Amino acid sequence: MAEEKTFYITTPIYYPSNKLHVGNSYTTVAADAVARFKRLTGYKVWFLTGTDEHGQKIQRQAELAGKAPREFVDEIVAWIKELWQELDIDYDDFIRTTEERHKKKVAAIFTRFYEQGDIYKGKYEGWYCTPCEAYWTERQLDECNCPDCGRKVELIAEEAYFFKMSKYAQQLQDHIETNPDFILPPSRKNEMVNNFLNPGLEDLCVSRTSFDWGIPVPFDPDHVIYVWLDALSNYITALGYGEKGSNFETFWPADVQLIGKDILRFHTIYWPIFLMALGEPLPKTVFGHGWLMLQEGKMSKSKGNAIDPLVLSDRYSSDALRYFLLREIPFGQDGIFSLESFINRINTDLANDLGNLVSRTLTMAERYFDGKLIEPQADDDNTDQELINTALDTPALVEGFTDQLKISDALTELWKLVKRSNKYIDENTPWELAKDPAKKGRLGTVIYNLVESIRFIAVMLQPFMPRTPESIWEQLGIASNDQLKTWDSLSEWGAIQPGTVVSRGDDLFPRLNLQAEIREMQGDQPAENGVKDDSVQDDQEGLISLDHFQQVDLRVAAITNAEKIPKADKLLKVEVSLGESEKRQVVAGIAEHYQPDQLIGKHVIFVSNLKPVKLRGVLSQGMLLAATAEDGSLALTTVDREIPAGSRVS
Ligand code: MSP
Repeated sequence: MAEEKTFYITTPIYYPSNKLHVGNSYTTVAADAVARFKRLTGYKVWFLTGTDEHGQKIQRQAELAGKAPREFVDEIVAWIKELWQELDIDYDDFIRTTEERHKKKVAAIFTRFYEQGDIYKGKYEGWYCTPCEAYWTERQLDECNCPDCGRKVELIAEEAYFFKMSKYAQQLQDHIETNPDFILPPSRKNEMVNNFLNPGLEDLCVSRTSFDWGIPVPFDPDHVIYVWLDALSNYITALGYGEKGSNFETFWPADVQLIGKDILRFHTIYWPIFLMALGEPLPKTVFGHGWLMLQEGKMSKSKGNAIDPLVLSDRYSSDALRYFLLREIPFGQDGIFSLESFINRINTDLANDLGNLVSRTLTMAERYFDGKLIEPQADDDNTDQELINTALDTPALVEGFTDQLKISDALTELWKLVKRSNKYIDENTPWELAKDPAKKGRLGTVIYNLVESIRFIAVMLQPFMPRTPESIWEQLGIASNDQLKTWDSLSEWGAIQPGTVVSRGDDLFPRLNLQAEIREMQGDQPAENGVKDDSVQDDQEGLISLDHFQQVDLRVAAITNAEKIPKADKLLKVEVSLGESEKRQVVAGIAEHYQPDQLIGKHVIFVSNLKPVKLRGVLSQGMLLAATAEDGSLALTTVDREIPAGSRVS
């Protein structure tokens, strides 16, 4: 039997010192997407995350909260687990460093280092940054502050155990040089080599005596083991390191260890050296991603709701949040989180591109075929070939980028297929085909191809947005056919069977009003008189807010028919199309300015959310916009190049 391909991926274990913000969720969402992707593509995956619960920082935070450390961390860990559940983080194991299985192995590792002469006892006199739990030498400080976080460091003088880092420095340097994928992205490698390895590694202090919230050194219990030695070991203790037949044997070395760039030194210098001292292989890749920032700087808890991942996912759905995090920022670089860019992504990529593709396609399938897919014709249409080729090429591209951890690029590729499919609708104008009974076969082929393309998209979407494909399977009528959800089903076009009955469901992602969202989420305070700021402007200066303007739904409408209304000299009954699925009729006061046949084919700006009224007994469902000059002449507003009917005007 062929051996199963394995894949082990880890996130940093988080300090349960406070609730996590959306920046912390970023690594875990990315790791989950990669883990799901590897599962989907046939790997036996182990995905580990957890919490880093010991150390001076946690002990102090607990004291501040008036709680025992254990009680303090238990509450935050429960919250973190709830967050991961909400964000669909499908981990295989969650390790807490306060668990027995971890503590006893760390103690054994420490003893082994001591016994083999890697650890010796001495006295530490130097600087310590408690928020980073990091030791610094005088020359490393940045004007008396921590060079990583910029906060005040403390001078400590304690008896301590030291690890002989220098013993392994050359071996590590060689490993880094000969394994270009060990530290990624490559720029991070130079940072580590130039800033830490080249100047020469100092021995690392690996125990503390001035507090006790940690794992005691087994043979000297006045000392607790340095929290980073304790924490880094989680990646192997959670696998059952040292036990026969354990996951360690199956999964180590890790394929990818994802971390933020601020903790690179611990993972690319200390961690590999500890592993070398244990005689174990090093992880294949340590990937240091960038930070998610706010416009005003790095995130902090005081920024409130707008960055609380639970609030965001509750309001906008966890899939939308996952999509934004994965798509917006090229993995590895810093990026800005703003509510505005988040809402814009939802509106453009999710509501317009993906949501419309599904709703347009299924509306047409229902309208023209009662939802039933017909056998596609084998005709040689160029647009068919282009769509099919794009769909068949996309899986390999998405896989290639995901394997390189270029997750944003993977999603960009996937969206090329979404856009290609929307273009296919515009090219084939199914609503025109529907007018000619002789073209029924072609119409059915177009719809079949669109549905199959949506199936391709949903299969590939699963790792990144796990919930949306579920809804798509329902709408495509294939919820119970697991075979059609597999990666292998993308190797050939046409797996969805003619005869399948599709049915349009709720919109996947309703469009959001940006201004209203910003106001609600960022909590604009009412003005002193109790009136919101922008309505004060409305009243006092004759101005309206953008929000009010955006309540008018303006669309491009294609005029499909126009005729005179008997006994009404000024009025025409005009029929318009707002895309293939929406037709309207309006009564327009333009009969003195346009002949009916001059109008047909024009693309005009249309108010689509006016309440319907009857004029001269004729129903009017909207309004055509027109400019009127002082002399009374009138011109309809049109668009200055071809654009599909139904496009929004804003
Ligand atoms: N406990 C250590 C890690 C030990 S791993 C053996 C730790 N914890 S942390 O909670 O402070 O940070 C966890 C991760 O969150 C780090 O990778 C850090 O880079 C990441 N992030 C913290 N703020 C972030 C952003 N604003 N954006 C992206 N990642 C962020 O360090």
